[in-house]
Amino acid sequence: MKIKTICCIGAGYVGGPTMAVIAQKCPHIKVTVVDVNASRIAAWNDNDLNNLPVFEPGLDSIIKEARGRNLIFSTNIDQAIDEADMIFISVNTPTKTYGKGKGMAADLKYIELCARQIAKVAKQDKIVVEKSTLPVRTASAIKNILDNTGNGVQFQILSNPEFLAEGTAVQDLLNPDRVLIGGDTTKEGQAAIQTLVEIYANWVPKERILTTNVWSSELSKLTANAFLAQRVSSINAMSEICEKTGADIDEVARAIGMDSRIGPKFLKASVGFGGSCFQKDILNLVYIAKTYGLNEVADYWEQVILMNDHQKNRFSDNIVSTLYNTVSGKKIAFLGWAFKKDTNDTRESPAIKVADNLLSEQASIAVYDPKVVEERIYADLDYLNTRSEEANRTLLHVSKDPYEACKDSHAIAVLTEWDEFKIYDWQKIYDNMHKPAFIFDGRGILDKKALQKIGFVCYTIGKGS
Ligand code: NAI
Repeated sequence: MKIKTICCIGAGYVGGPTMAVIAQKCPHIKVTVVDVNASRIAAWNDNDLNNLPVFEPGLDSIIKEARGRNLIFSTNIDQAIDEADMIFISVNTPTKTYGKGKGMAADLKYIELCARQIAKVAKQDKIVVEKSTLPVRTASAIKNILDNTGNGVQFQILSNPEFLAEGTAVQDLLNPDRVLIGGDTTKEGQAAIQTLVEIYANWVPKERILTTNVWSSELSKLTANAFLAQRVSSINAMSEICEKTGADIDEVARAIGMDSRIGPKFLKASVGFGGSCFQKDILNLVYIAKTYGLNEVADYWEQVILMNDHQKNRFSDNIVSTLYNTVSGKKIAFLGWAFKKDTNDTRESPAIKVADNLLSEQASIAVYDPKVVEERIYADLDYLNTRSEEANRTLLHVSKDPYEACKDSHAIAVLTEWDEFKIYDWQKIYDNMHKPAFIFDGRGILDKKALQKIGFVCYTIGKGS
């Protein structure tokens, strides 16, 4: 089967960029991305490419090239499903906030809604692709819904998890380490796998396209995120030992990273990992392990999250204790709110927890982030429900200018590793601060020696004083 039309349900951080790249690389395929969120679709269609709902370096030029040619953003979900030979499901799968599995299991209600809508609308055979990250064995639930509520048409379910990293999504999509496609072991399942292989083969070398059974594919995505997050928690655990012993975490990371079995990547100590996926996917893995009675396996992976929580809390505790055990009424400037550089995504960003802790100590916070808008920052804090919305707006202010944010502050906390922070006029910032002027570098990006020379008192994660 040659695919002529694709529909993607969910125009978020994954659906938008992945479909933009497929459309760019496959001009012969019409790709329609649909979403229930009309304002998000409107933003994808905005003539001003600065208003795209997802900021990713390089994404604007791909959208410019493909949008209107063979890339369409629409709210007409039924029509797009009806027309499509292949349907990607790329909706959110957050941690459940209610009922059984609350706080752990993946909430699959959006996935189920998609499956039911596909079943209702489809009148010809279709290939349905799980792009969302899903618990292992979800494909059988989707298949069950499609087969029992549909119009008698044939569905093949594929698992094609997305490994892009936010901030480098376009590069990751253009040049992936691997593409993973899982499907049924039947003849029809294998044919469906090949159909999707052919799409990726338009720009990805065939040897980097892996095919597996559907369960391996689903579980590989959770495993990949668990391993990545575990590396961060492992290096962060060592960072605390470094601070007590005088070892330097960057030196330790370099020394172990040169061991080819360990490798140098993902060994940067920090205030903790964030993002929509790591925590959610590990919790999901823990839940799956518990469901099968594998309590030791569950405990093992849960520790990765506990360590991450500890890292965020000890960062804010350290700010309070260093500022003479009180931050009440003191201004603390936050440089960065996004969970990492080069994205406007703030989901699970460590900045949120650190801010929440400091606000509970009655600190006054001024935030500057080059890409995150004010409403997002307040929404992140309000969501925690720790204090009233008024109190959040009284205690925390958002600034459009980093020098303004730092002016008259007692301390600066670096929460995101934006490159621009490295080239600020730090002397000017120092001159306008209360003394002693403290810097807490939660990302280890600033030149500590240069800052100390200016007069700053510096704390860097993983480096003793
Ligand atoms: P997102 O929240 O940015 O986007 C999901 C979109 O789906 C939203 O715009 C929502 O309105 C829409 N949606 C939900 N239900 C719908 C329905 N029934 N019909 C139409 N639209 C619907 O989420 P994001 O970040 O794109 O993640 C999507 C999936 O991809 C998740 O399972 C996530 O775990 C996975 N993933 C995310 C990565 C990331 O870096 N954000 C990387 C790899 C996988």
